[in-house]
Amino acid sequence: MSQMLTLSRAAHLLGTTRAVLQRHIAEGRLPSYDGMVTSEDLQKLFPHLSLEDAGAFERVSQIKEQAFGKRVRERVLPNQEVLAERLLAQGEELEETRRTLARYHDLIEGLHERLERALTGPHAALARELRAYLDEELARALGAEEPKDEVAVMNEILRVVAAHVKVKPSGHEFFVEGNETILAAALRAGLAPSYGCANGNCGLCKARIVAGSVRQVHHYDYPLSEKERAQGYTLLCSHTAVTDLVVEMLEANSPADIPPQEIVAKVKSIQPLARDIALLHLVTPRTHRFRFLAGQRAALSVSGQNGNFRGEYPIASCPCDDRNLLFHIPRDEEEDFARLLFSGALKSGDAVSLFGPFGEFVLDKESRDDLLFVACDTGFAPVKSLIEHALSLDMPGSLFLVWVATHPDGHYLANQCRAWADAIETLDYRLISESDLEKAGQVASETALTFAPNRPRFAYLVGPAAFLAAAERTLIDKGMPPARIKTEVL
Ligand code: FES
Repeated sequence: MSQMLTLSRAAHLLGTTRAVLQRHIAEGRLPSYDGMVTSEDLQKLFPHLSLEDAGAFERVSQIKEQAFGKRVRERVLPNQEVLAERLLAQGEELEETRRTLARYHDLIEGLHERLERALTGPHAALARELRAYLDEELARALGAEEPKDEVAVMNEILRVVAAHVKVKPSGHEFFVEGNETILAAALRAGLAPSYGCANGNCGLCKARIVAGSVRQVHHYDYPLSEKERAQGYTLLCSHTAVTDLVVEMLEANSPADIPPQEIVAKVKSIQPLARDIALLHLVTPRTHRFRFLAGQRAALSVSGQNGNFRGEYPIASCPCDDRNLLFHIPRDEEEDFARLLFSGALKSGDAVSLFGPFGEFVLDKESRDDLLFVACDTGFAPVKSLIEHALSLDMPGSLFLVWVATHPDGHYLANQCRAWADAIETLDYRLISESDLEKAGQVASETALTFAPNRPRFAYLVGPAAFLAAAERTLIDKGMPPARIKTEVL
């Protein structure tokens, strides 16, 4: 019998995005029942899907991760205890199915016997007709060569290797894979759960497990009271999911929900991206993560004998990228921090103080529309963060990026754009070179508007003021409502 699957589970199985499946639904190729799809319909839509392709999910995930520029994570099977509990749960389900089948078998046998006896009674004609019908239908059902439901088989495998989590009250969904904690899985999925240390000390990740069971995978010191335990509270940073879960947890819905933080991170590396742009990679301590929303900025500062070097930059990585924080720093003799960095005085292992986060240039996470991103020069940094976040969230709309460079080596991560477009069917991009800021803004917006002109869209613009003014004016002149445009001045 065909299985009903949520869109996120189906997308997870097929190694695609919800946006792709939603497009198939909207265009009538995939029936949907209250937001669910059947394994049978998926099999029809993807006829070449086979168990051998079950690795497609892993492959596409890996491509996405490489496209994201993420470090390789531990993506292995759950530990033995968790695996044993999940197999036990599946074994119990299988046993229950066997018992049900045995009951149906007895029922059919009993019916057959009664019809045999009735052949000599007053309703013999009816009994003969019913017996013939029964025999014929049984022969057909038992002899039918039905194609194997590969999607359903893959789903059973997925249930063993990954637990599904539904969040209340937001309705967000994500999967816990390998031995990762529920917190790590939620962050990887692009959610913004409440948390602090990620290390079992602060209690900020406390959440209530409404259904399902969890297992401790990391030590924690935060003392949960007996009453909290009895009510089902647990620490998301110290536990993994054993079974599918329903979790009641706090999530940040806007920048106002993220507390100001001040932490000290370490320089992991500094690499040139272009002649006048450097990639600064910071790593936060294990015991103190930096909480922010994609698209926000942070102030960086280094104090030394020669003074205090400070600068404020958009974060170029996604909050889903664990302890890693990336910045694209342009050379700027007027700015202390950039001057320090380009002087070569800042080295791997040095401490950098982080303050923030700042800014409102964040995704409208409930948007179901197509998203247009228009970036000028290092405006690519916050856009990269937003795109990675949108991909992690598996947002339903398509994504379109226009990146304008005002100088020759300005498309310093063009390969990143290519990797996204290669791996993600619902993402496209254009690179434009134009040195005049006003003209650049106009051309970029006109190009962005050529993407999916008949679908609802939301635009995110980032760049110098003159670029932004021209880009925004062009969008509005061409009919885009101002309320659907977000801007960030560099
Ligand atoms: S985030 Fe601090 S205890 Fe979990």
